[in-house]
Amino acid sequence: MPPARIRATGSYVPRKRLTNLDLEKMVDTSDEWITTRTGIRERRIAGPAEACSDLALKASKRALKAGGVKAADLDLIIVATVTPDTFVPSAACVLQSKLGASRAAAFDVNAACSGFIYALSVADSFIRSGKCLNVLVVGSEVLSRVTNWQDRSTCVLFGDGAGAALLGPASDETFQSRIISVNIYADGNMGDLLMIPAGGSRRPASEDTLKNRLHCLQMSGNETFKIAVKTLESLVRNTLGAAGLTPSDISLFVPHQANLRIIRATAERLGIPIDKVAVNIDRLGNTSAASIPIALDEAVRSGRVKSGDYVLLEAFGGGLTWASALLRW
Ligand code: UT7
Repeated sequence: MPPARIRATGSYVPRKRLTNLDLEKMVDTSDEWITTRTGIRERRIAGPAEACSDLALKASKRALKAGGVKAADLDLIIVATVTPDTFVPSAACVLQSKLGASRAAAFDVNAACSGFIYALSVADSFIRSGKCLNVLVVGSEVLSRVTNWQDRSTCVLFGDGAGAALLGPASDETFQSRIISVNIYADGNMGDLLMIPAGGSRRPASEDTLKNRLHCLQMSGNETFKIAVKTLESLVRNTLGAAGLTPSDISLFVPHQANLRIIRATAERLGIPIDKVAVNIDRLGNTSAASIPIALDEAVRSGRVKSGDYVLLEAFGGGLTWASALLRW
């Protein structure tokens, strides 16, 4: 069976911008603190009528158009998200209906910020096994709905957006353009570092959970930061080593956009020059599962990725989870 490849990408971010100056009026923070500690200057916020599947729909339509594939020809839709429209049905099923992708199976993947690469891994397996030809993988988040706007340690970080990738089998005999490897990992022992404590079966919604804002994201930022930097360097080295490559072979490095300091530290430790790194955290903040497909789509559309380039994706997030994907474009 041929390997899988990304045929096309698409993305969408809501129009409304929330700047650091806006946040200065909401909590005890400053543009200077947010910029120096995170690299974020502004983030996008979904409109009141926009939910996860609405953002996903716009990104998906762009990916399908760029790939020249009709929604009716999709075999599988996977949405990576921690902010689905509803728990049931899944965001992927809502998206399937909105797209009119009546032949496609559909389900969500929850691996927080690593979700897009986790979903890519599932799609890759379905294509390699010959079970599916056309697979749509979407990362879509409306984190503004699970943000505690009174908690300065988290509310300055997150934003909303969606990115999509259309996958299919590698098309020629050399299989040059393909997914070389996808690697996914987890350590549930550290799940408490980043969580939404209530709203699930452990702690259903109650007056108490609402009063204490337990339906919002909580993060031990500094601890997560240190583990992320340490983990990501070895993750990338192992991913490249397994393919017989070194960091200098990479033309485009697309890290999850959690913190500019994490991105810079990882790139520096690996010796990847910053001009080879896709960065949009300054404009979009941390969009969790959406950050990688949005950054990838921006790079593709601006002509930063050429045929034959090695592209490396990596992510680290809640779960804890971490993941990498090595692609030949
Ligand atoms: O995407 C999923 C994975 N997530 C990550 O990888 C995120 C990793 N973590 C981070 O990006 C960083 O840890 C943060 C940006 C969240 C925080 O930066 P930090 O350098 O780790 O700061 P800190 O949490 O150690 O806090 C330093 C100080 C504290 O004050 P004291 O105790 O030193 O007086 C905080 O209360 O900064 C204070 N602080 C703020 N001050 C102004 C925390 N948030 C803010 C704020 N504005 N928004």
